[in-house]
Amino acid sequence: MKKIFASAFLMLVAGGFAFGASPDENDVKMDRFITDLMNKMTIEEKIGQLHQISGGDDIVSGEQQVNSPGQQKAEMIRRGEVGSVLNAKGVDKVMQYQKVAVEESRLKIPMMFAMDVIHGYETGFPVPLGMAASWNMDLIEQMARVAAVEASADGVCWTFSPMVDISRDPRWGRVVEGAGEDPYLGSEMAKAMVRGYQGEPGFESDTQILATVKHFALYGAPDAGRDYSTVDMSRLRMYNDYFPPYKAAVEAGAATVMSSFNEVDNVPATANKWLLDEVLRKQWGFDGLVVTDYAGINDLPRHGIGDPVSTTIRALEAGTDIDMEAYAYHYMLPEAVKSGRVPMYVLDRSCRRVLEAKYKLGLFDDPYKYIDESRPDKDFFTDEHRAVARKLAGESFVLLKNEGNILPLRKDATIAVIGPHGNNRPMMLGPWFYPHDIYRAATVVEGLKEVSGGKAEVLYARGCQPFESEEYAKRVYFGKEFEKDNRSDEEILKEALDVAAKADVIVATLGESTEMSGESSSRTDLNLPKPQQDLLKELVKTGKPVVLVLFTGRPLTITWEKENVPAILNTWFGGTEAAYAIGDVLFGDVNPSGKLTSTWPVNVGQIPIYYNCKNTGKPMDQWFQKFRSGYLDVSNEPLFPFGYGLSYTTFEYGDITLDHDSMGEKGRLTASVTVRNTGKYDGYETVQLYIKDVYASIIRPLKELKAFKKVFIKAGESVTLDFEITADMLKFYNYDLDYVCEAGDFEVMIGRNSADVKSAKFKLVD
Ligand code: NOJ
Repeated sequence: MKKIFASAFLMLVAGGFAFGASPDENDVKMDRFITDLMNKMTIEEKIGQLHQISGGDDIVSGEQQVNSPGQQKAEMIRRGEVGSVLNAKGVDKVMQYQKVAVEESRLKIPMMFAMDVIHGYETGFPVPLGMAASWNMDLIEQMARVAAVEASADGVCWTFSPMVDISRDPRWGRVVEGAGEDPYLGSEMAKAMVRGYQGEPGFESDTQILATVKHFALYGAPDAGRDYSTVDMSRLRMYNDYFPPYKAAVEAGAATVMSSFNEVDNVPATANKWLLDEVLRKQWGFDGLVVTDYAGINDLPRHGIGDPVSTTIRALEAGTDIDMEAYAYHYMLPEAVKSGRVPMYVLDRSCRRVLEAKYKLGLFDDPYKYIDESRPDKDFFTDEHRAVARKLAGESFVLLKNEGNILPLRKDATIAVIGPHGNNRPMMLGPWFYPHDIYRAATVVEGLKEVSGGKAEVLYARGCQPFESEEYAKRVYFGKEFEKDNRSDEEILKEALDVAAKADVIVATLGESTEMSGESSSRTDLNLPKPQQDLLKELVKTGKPVVLVLFTGRPLTITWEKENVPAILNTWFGGTEAAYAIGDVLFGDVNPSGKLTSTWPVNVGQIPIYYNCKNTGKPMDQWFQKFRSGYLDVSNEPLFPFGYGLSYTTFEYGDITLDHDSMGEKGRLTASVTVRNTGKYDGYETVQLYIKDVYASIIRPLKELKAFKKVFIKAGESVTLDFEITADMLKFYNYDLDYVCEAGDFEVMIGRNSADVKSAKFKLVD
């Protein structure tokens, strides 16, 4: 592994030197080149640069009927009416498209090829919510690097990732694609992913691809968790809680931003000048390009802000450079520009941004830079890539419960793997994963056999159908195939109970199916699907030890399970190597270290629920108090708090010591804590630091994550960790949206999760 990253790094450094010129000279050269090119371009050709089409169709001429969709696309490209293509899968296909642009169009402007490379390309990594639970930013950066190497080997020079939308509502299916609920953690992950995809500045190597920060903005906060629904929030909440990860990604150099489907302050993001121009470009200094979400411009009239022509113009004027697949710029802008409704400089501004991205990628020097048909064989699914994926999967798993230490399991046990997820390859992958071979992932059964070195006897039974009805399954899979078992429910259950009877331990592999979270997959019920719950109850009734290996893309309300199942390991959707990682953790070769990055509610009624909430004027200290902020039927406590996750060992935290009890705005102080591994296993612990601003000019949260360190501590040993606290960590956007820190009292909290912390006080003085 080291070898790959070391050599890629050397290439980048060497490339940087070879490039030779200072950034300013490069900019001048680039500006001159693009100005010359734009001087030759017609209005239609300029608009073409802003037109992104879907690349699903084959465009090789001769093999198609006249006027097939593929031929029509080829014709548009030939006329210079397309600037980029999304979802052209396969280096051969990318080659077909690029050849038409570069060899058959008048100005021979190369196209860019984009794809949703969300959690790996051929080597499958955990879904992003799972990756986040590893709290291992180096590993997440490596994930993005591996994904960039593999995607670029297949002709992709642009990924629509990272998705950095904060979400406090697990009904929303797309929580699976982000880092969870926390702005700080979300920002760290956003930066790591941008670094991994893009590498060092300069795009010198053919493995460095453009990253896209999405979905700008606030897409994770739809009313009632319903995808694409209304978003309405205060500017203070935007700036303090929801904007930070987008901003962090922009500051890390993300080359592109995707506008979101939703509205921001009653104006759809895609046509929102305040958002795209004032905030993104002026306040944050973003100088890359903005692409819409899929056909987002077509939604604008439906939002009710104008007819198709006026909303298309409004999107461009707001700062949306590329129209993804709506064909709105393609059909409506030529007339709008020629009639003077759109000033030429507005079109030129966006055209220039697209050409700059192409220039920076090096496509004008070599349009085939990312199209090398020999690379897939070398770069796909290599042992090194798989090793990173297995490690990250193992670190992403969260041990939610381990009563009586039934985990880890003995390798020579007889294990009954029961449940629809136990022997199903696509089920390991999660949404947004489209490798060439979807059946490449190992199954849990295979993983356990392999990791036990053949010692375990691993039995399998399906146990139940994954969903309550076929109609539900069809909605989830949306045209894709799902495996249906044609036996009766009774037969399927009987087989499972027979298998269970032969085993020392039951590993129940249950949860959401691979497409049950993701886009357009909101849910109002966050339990396990009913047939799976019923199966689990039957398995628990057998009296055998039961380990629930949970699959999910979101927090679930597994309240009954927490109460009644002795061990629960949440494995998200861990990717192609997940089964081996499950074996690693179940058998104790890897000690689990993942921690939740969103709060898990007791029931759906508690949503939205998040740790960094405010105190309110009537906080309920304990359940139940009349005239306090709470519920009659459940307490305010979550099922599992933010930051929660167990280990096979135990860690004890000492008190916090501060080297000073006050600091000035330019000063700093150090908070230290000693963590001792008091159990029998070596293990990683993620030590989390939170801060509370006790009194401020506006209401501040009860606590906010401001730092964390993931440390390896050997059994019986202890480690002292020093956290530096600076005034920057105390800053927030005040009533006037100025970013300030205010003198006064602060509380610093350090602990194993957001609900279990030690605390100390200090002052910020003027
Ligand atoms: C719609 C999704 O919202 C977005 O995340 C994705 O990048 C685009 N489709 C392109 O596939």
